[in-house]
Amino acid sequence: MSARTKLARHVNNVLRPMKVQIVPGFSTDPAMKSFIPARKTIAAARKAGLSLGEYIDQNFAEPGATQDAVNAILKLAEMTGACDVVCEIGPGSARYAVEVIRALHPGSYEIYETAPDWLPVLRQLPNALIRDCDGRTLSQTPDSSVDLAHAHKVFVYTECYVTVGYMAEMARVVRRGGTVAFDIVTDPCLDEETIAKWLRDTSFYRPVPREWAVDFMRRRGLSLLGSHFTPLPPGRSELLVFRRD
Ligand SMILES: C[S@@+](CC[C@H](N)C(=O)[O-])C[C@H]1O[C@@H](n2cnc3c(N)ncnc32)[C@H](O)[C@@H]1O
Repeated sequence: MSARTKLARHVNNVLRPMKVQIVPGFSTDPAMKSFIPARKTIAAARKAGLSLGEYIDQNFAEPGATQDAVNAILKLAEMTGACDVVCEIGPGSARYAVEVIRALHPGSYEIYETAPDWLPVLRQLPNALIRDCDGRTLSQTPDSSVDLAHAHKVFVYTECYVTVGYMAEMARVVRRGGTVAFDIVTDPCLDEETIAKWLRDTSFYRPVPREWAVDFMRRRGLSLLGSHFTPLPPGRSELLVFRRD
Protein backbone atom coordinates (compact mmCIF):
# COMPACT_ATOMS: atom_id res chain seq x y z
CA MET A 1 0.00 0.00 0.00
CA SER A 2 1.45 3.39 -1.00
CA ALA A 3 2.01 6.21 1.51
CA ARG A 4 -0.70 8.18 -0.30
CA THR A 5 -3.25 5.36 0.06
CA LYS A 6 -2.36 5.01 3.77
CA LEU A 7 -2.81 8.75 4.25
CA ALA A 8 -6.17 8.74 2.42
CA ARG A 9 -7.37 5.87 4.63
CA HIS A 10 -6.28 7.71 7.74
CA VAL A 11 -8.08 10.90 6.64
CA ASN A 12 -11.19 8.86 5.84
CA ASN A 13 -11.10 7.27 9.30
CA VAL A 14 -11.00 10.75 10.83
CA LEU A 15 -13.86 11.95 8.58
CA ARG A 16 -16.06 8.85 9.11
CA PRO A 17 -18.10 10.24 12.07
CA MET A 18 -19.14 13.11 9.77
CA LYS A 19 -20.22 10.60 7.09
CA VAL A 20 -17.76 12.17 4.62
CA GLN A 21 -14.90 10.51 2.71
CA ILE A 22 -12.31 11.44 0.11
CA VAL A 23 -12.34 9.42 -3.09
CA PRO A 24 -9.58 9.55 -5.76
CA GLY A 25 -10.44 10.25 -9.38
CA PHE A 26 -12.40 12.62 -11.58
CA SER A 27 -15.88 11.27 -10.96
CA THR A 28 -17.97 10.17 -8.00
CA ASP A 29 -19.81 7.68 -10.24
CA PRO A 30 -18.87 4.26 -8.82
CA ALA A 31 -18.84 2.85 -12.38
CA MET A 32 -15.80 5.00 -13.24
CA LYS A 33 -12.72 3.78 -11.44
CA SER A 34 -9.68 5.98 -11.02
CA PHE A 35 -6.35 5.46 -12.78
CA ILE A 36 -2.72 6.57 -12.33
CA PRO A 37 -2.35 10.32 -13.06
CA ALA A 38 -1.29 11.11 -16.62
CA ARG A 39 1.03 14.07 -15.99
CA LYS A 40 3.11 12.35 -13.31
CA THR A 41 3.30 9.07 -15.21
CA ILE A 42 4.35 10.72 -18.48
CA ALA A 43 7.05 12.71 -16.62
CA ALA A 44 8.33 9.59 -14.84
CA ALA A 45 8.52 7.61 -18.10
CA ARG A 46 10.41 10.46 -19.74
CA LYS A 47 12.84 10.66 -16.81
CA ALA A 48 13.45 6.90 -17.04
CA GLY A 49 14.08 7.20 -20.80
CA LEU A 50 11.29 4.72 -21.53
CA SER A 51 8.16 4.78 -23.65
CA LEU A 52 4.93 4.98 -21.63
CA GLY A 53 4.21 1.34 -22.40
CA GLU A 54 7.67 0.20 -21.30
CA TYR A 55 7.45 2.29 -18.13
CA ILE A 56 4.02 0.92 -17.14
CA ASP A 57 5.04 -2.65 -17.95
CA GLN A 58 8.16 -2.29 -15.81
CA ASN A 59 6.49 -0.60 -12.86
CA PHE A 60 3.00 -2.09 -12.79
CA ALA A 61 3.36 -5.46 -14.56
CA GLU A 62 6.42 -7.13 -16.15
CA PRO A 63 8.69 -6.05 -19.01
CA GLY A 64 7.12 -7.16 -22.30
CA ALA A 65 3.69 -7.90 -20.75
CA THR A 66 1.75 -5.62 -23.11
CA GLN A 67 3.36 -7.00 -26.26
CA ASP A 68 2.82 -10.59 -25.02
CA ALA A 69 -0.90 -9.96 -24.48
CA VAL A 70 -1.34 -8.35 -27.90
CA ASN A 71 0.59 -11.19 -29.55
CA ALA A 72 -1.69 -13.71 -27.79
CA ILE A 73 -4.82 -11.98 -29.17
CA LEU A 74 -3.41 -11.80 -32.71
CA LYS A 75 -2.33 -15.45 -32.62
CA LEU A 76 -5.52 -16.88 -31.07
CA ALA A 77 -7.74 -14.82 -33.39
CA GLU A 78 -5.45 -15.40 -36.38
CA MET A 79 -5.51 -11.68 -37.10
CA THR A 80 -2.94 -10.53 -39.63
CA GLY A 81 -2.69 -7.39 -41.72
CA ALA A 82 -5.05 -4.45 -41.76
CA CYS A 83 -8.57 -4.18 -40.37
CA ASP A 84 -11.29 -1.52 -40.39
CA VAL A 85 -12.41 -0.79 -36.83
CA VAL A 86 -10.94 -1.49 -33.40
CA CYS A 87 -12.73 -0.45 -30.22
CA GLU A 88 -10.99 -0.27 -26.83
CA ILE A 89 -12.52 0.33 -23.40
CA GLY A 90 -10.30 2.06 -20.83
CA PRO A 91 -7.05 2.30 -22.86
CA GLY A 92 -5.48 4.68 -20.29
CA SER A 93 -1.90 5.32 -21.40
CA ALA A 94 -2.55 3.64 -24.80
CA ARG A 95 0.07 0.97 -24.17
CA TYR A 96 -2.10 -1.75 -25.81
CA ALA A 97 -3.47 0.61 -28.45
CA VAL A 98 0.04 1.42 -29.69
CA GLU A 99 0.84 -2.28 -30.25
CA VAL A 100 -2.55 -3.10 -31.80
CA ILE A 101 -2.30 -0.16 -34.20
CA ARG A 102 1.25 -1.19 -35.14
CA ALA A 103 -0.01 -4.68 -36.04
CA LEU A 104 -3.45 -4.00 -37.55
CA HIS A 105 -3.38 -0.39 -38.88
CA PRO A 106 -7.12 0.08 -38.26
CA GLY A 107 -8.99 2.71 -40.28
CA SER A 108 -10.67 3.80 -37.03
CA TYR A 109 -9.60 3.27 -33.40
CA GLU A 110 -12.63 3.89 -31.18
CA ILE A 111 -11.92 4.82 -27.58
CA TYR A 112 -14.18 4.77 -24.52
CA GLU A 113 -12.17 6.22 -21.62
CA THR A 114 -13.36 7.88 -18.39
CA ALA A 115 -10.05 9.48 -17.30
CA PRO A 116 -9.94 12.94 -18.93
CA ASP A 117 -6.24 13.50 -18.19
CA TRP A 118 -5.27 10.63 -20.55
CA LEU A 119 -7.39 11.87 -23.49
CA PRO A 120 -4.68 14.18 -24.95
CA VAL A 121 -2.36 11.14 -25.25
CA LEU A 122 -5.12 9.00 -26.78
CA ARG A 123 -6.09 11.71 -29.29
CA GLN A 124 -2.61 11.49 -30.80
CA LEU A 125 -3.07 7.86 -31.86
CA PRO A 126 -3.45 7.33 -35.63
CA ASN A 127 -7.17 7.35 -36.62
CA ALA A 128 -8.25 7.77 -32.99
CA LEU A 129 -11.96 8.35 -32.49
CA ILE A 130 -12.70 9.43 -28.92
CA ARG A 131 -16.26 8.39 -28.10
CA ASP A 132 -18.51 9.85 -25.37
CA CYS A 133 -17.97 7.53 -22.43
CA ASP A 134 -20.77 7.03 -19.90
CA GLY A 135 -18.74 4.37 -18.08
CA ARG A 136 -21.16 1.58 -18.96
CA THR A 137 -21.97 1.33 -22.67
CA LEU A 138 -20.52 1.63 -26.18
CA SER A 139 -23.44 3.87 -27.06
CA GLN A 140 -21.85 5.54 -30.10
CA THR A 141 -20.77 2.29 -31.76
CA PRO A 142 -23.26 0.60 -34.12
CA ASP A 143 -24.15 -3.12 -33.89
CA SER A 144 -21.83 -5.55 -35.74
CA SER A 145 -19.39 -2.82 -36.81
CA VAL A 146 -16.11 -3.69 -35.07
CA ASP A 147 -13.33 -6.12 -36.04
CA LEU A 148 -11.71 -6.18 -32.60
CA ALA A 149 -13.27 -5.02 -29.31
CA HIS A 150 -10.88 -5.24 -26.38
CA ALA A 151 -10.19 -4.10 -22.80
CA HIS A 152 -7.20 -4.69 -20.53
CA LYS A 153 -6.93 -4.37 -16.74
CA VAL A 154 -10.36 -2.73 -16.68
CA PHE A 155 -12.74 -5.56 -15.77
CA VAL A 156 -10.34 -6.66 -13.03
CA TYR A 157 -11.55 -3.77 -10.87
CA THR A 158 -14.84 -2.43 -12.25
CA GLU A 159 -18.16 -3.07 -10.50
CA CYS A 160 -19.92 -6.26 -11.58
CA TYR A 161 -22.71 -4.38 -13.40
CA VAL A 162 -20.08 -2.40 -15.37
CA THR A 163 -18.08 -5.49 -16.37
CA VAL A 164 -21.13 -7.50 -17.40
CA GLY A 165 -22.70 -4.54 -19.19
CA TYR A 166 -19.53 -3.96 -21.20
CA MET A 167 -19.22 -7.69 -22.00
CA ALA A 168 -22.73 -7.56 -23.51
CA GLU A 169 -21.86 -4.36 -25.37
CA MET A 170 -18.68 -5.88 -26.85
CA ALA A 171 -20.77 -8.83 -28.07
CA ARG A 172 -23.25 -6.39 -29.63
CA VAL A 173 -20.70 -4.27 -31.55
CA VAL A 174 -18.42 -7.00 -32.88
CA ARG A 175 -19.07 -8.13 -36.45
CA ARG A 176 -19.37 -11.76 -37.57
CA GLY A 177 -15.90 -13.35 -37.53
CA GLY A 178 -14.64 -10.46 -35.37
CA THR A 179 -12.76 -10.76 -32.09
CA VAL A 180 -13.55 -9.81 -28.50
CA ALA A 181 -10.74 -9.89 -25.92
CA PHE A 182 -10.67 -8.86 -22.26
CA ASP A 183 -8.97 -9.97 -19.08
CA ILE A 184 -10.72 -10.82 -15.84
CA VAL A 185 -9.62 -12.37 -12.58
CA THR A 186 -10.84 -15.94 -13.11
CA ASP A 187 -10.87 -18.87 -10.68
CA PRO A 188 -7.41 -20.14 -11.80
CA CYS A 189 -5.95 -16.74 -10.78
CA LEU A 190 -7.14 -17.20 -7.19
CA ASP A 191 -4.30 -19.34 -5.82
CA GLU A 192 -3.54 -19.36 -2.09
CA GLU A 193 -0.43 -17.19 -2.43
CA THR A 194 -2.29 -14.46 -4.33
CA ILE A 195 -5.26 -14.55 -1.96
CA ALA A 196 -2.92 -14.16 1.02
CA LYS A 197 -1.44 -11.03 -0.59
CA TRP A 198 -4.91 -9.68 -1.41
CA LEU A 199 -5.94 -10.10 2.22
CA ARG A 200 -2.76 -8.37 3.39
CA ASP A 201 -3.28 -5.45 0.99
CA THR A 202 -7.12 -5.41 1.16
CA SER A 203 -7.19 -5.80 -2.61
CA PHE A 204 -9.84 -4.06 -4.71
CA TYR A 205 -9.80 -6.69 -7.49
CA ARG A 206 -13.11 -8.33 -8.41
CA PRO A 207 -13.06 -11.94 -9.59
CA VAL A 208 -15.46 -13.19 -12.27
CA PRO A 209 -16.16 -16.96 -12.56
CA ARG A 210 -14.49 -18.23 -15.75
CA GLU A 211 -17.16 -20.70 -16.85
CA TRP A 212 -19.91 -18.16 -16.21
CA ALA A 213 -18.09 -15.54 -18.35
CA VAL A 214 -17.51 -18.00 -21.20
CA ASP A 215 -21.17 -19.07 -21.08
CA PHE A 216 -22.39 -15.46 -20.98
CA MET A 217 -20.48 -14.73 -24.19
CA ARG A 218 -21.58 -18.05 -25.76
CA ARG A 219 -25.23 -17.10 -25.23
CA ARG A 220 -24.47 -13.94 -27.23
CA GLY A 221 -22.97 -15.86 -30.16
CA LEU A 222 -19.27 -15.81 -29.24
CA SER A 223 -17.00 -18.85 -28.90
CA LEU A 224 -13.89 -18.95 -26.76
CA LEU A 225 -10.75 -19.30 -28.90
CA GLY A 226 -8.33 -19.54 -26.00
CA SER A 227 -6.75 -17.58 -23.20
CA HIS A 228 -3.48 -16.16 -21.91
CA PHE A 229 -2.45 -15.32 -18.34
CA THR A 230 -1.15 -11.79 -17.84
CA PRO A 231 0.59 -10.25 -14.81
CA LEU A 232 -1.64 -8.38 -12.37
CA PRO A 233 0.64 -7.93 -9.36
CA PRO A 234 0.63 -9.51 -6.87
CA GLY A 235 -1.03 -12.18 -9.03
CA ARG A 236 -2.38 -12.53 -12.54
CA SER A 237 -5.49 -12.12 -14.66
CA GLU A 238 -6.71 -14.24 -17.57
CA LEU A 239 -7.12 -12.70 -21.01
CA LEU A 240 -10.03 -14.45 -22.78
CA VAL A 241 -10.23 -14.26 -26.56
CA PHE A 242 -13.54 -14.91 -28.37
CA ARG A 243 -14.77 -15.00 -31.95
CA ARG A 244 -18.27 -14.05 -33.06
CA ASP A 245 -19.75 -17.06 -34.90
C1 LIG B 1 -6.18 -0.08 -14.54
S1 LIG B 1 -6.43 1.02 -15.86
C2 LIG B 1 -5.79 0.13 -17.28
C3 LIG B 1 -5.40 1.07 -18.39
C4 LIG B 1 -4.88 0.37 -19.65
N1 LIG B 1 -5.89 -0.47 -20.25
C5 LIG B 1 -3.66 -0.43 -19.28
O1 LIG B 1 -3.78 -1.65 -19.09
O2 LIG B 1 -2.60 0.18 -19.15
C6 LIG B 1 -8.15 1.03 -16.17
C7 LIG B 1 -8.58 2.02 -17.22
O3 LIG B 1 -9.98 1.98 -17.38
C8 LIG B 1 -10.52 3.30 -17.25
N2 LIG B 1 -11.87 3.12 -16.70
C9 LIG B 1 -12.24 2.94 -15.41
N3 LIG B 1 -13.58 2.79 -15.31
C10 LIG B 1 -14.06 2.84 -16.59
C11 LIG B 1 -15.36 2.73 -17.16
N4 LIG B 1 -16.43 2.49 -16.40
N5 LIG B 1 -15.47 2.85 -18.51
C12 LIG B 1 -14.38 3.08 -19.29
N6 LIG B 1 -13.12 3.18 -18.80
C13 LIG B 1 -12.96 3.06 -17.48
C14 LIG B 1 -9.53 4.02 -16.34
O4 LIG B 1 -9.63 5.40 -16.46
C15 LIG B 1 -8.23 3.45 -16.86
O5 LIG B 1 -7.79 4.12 -17.99
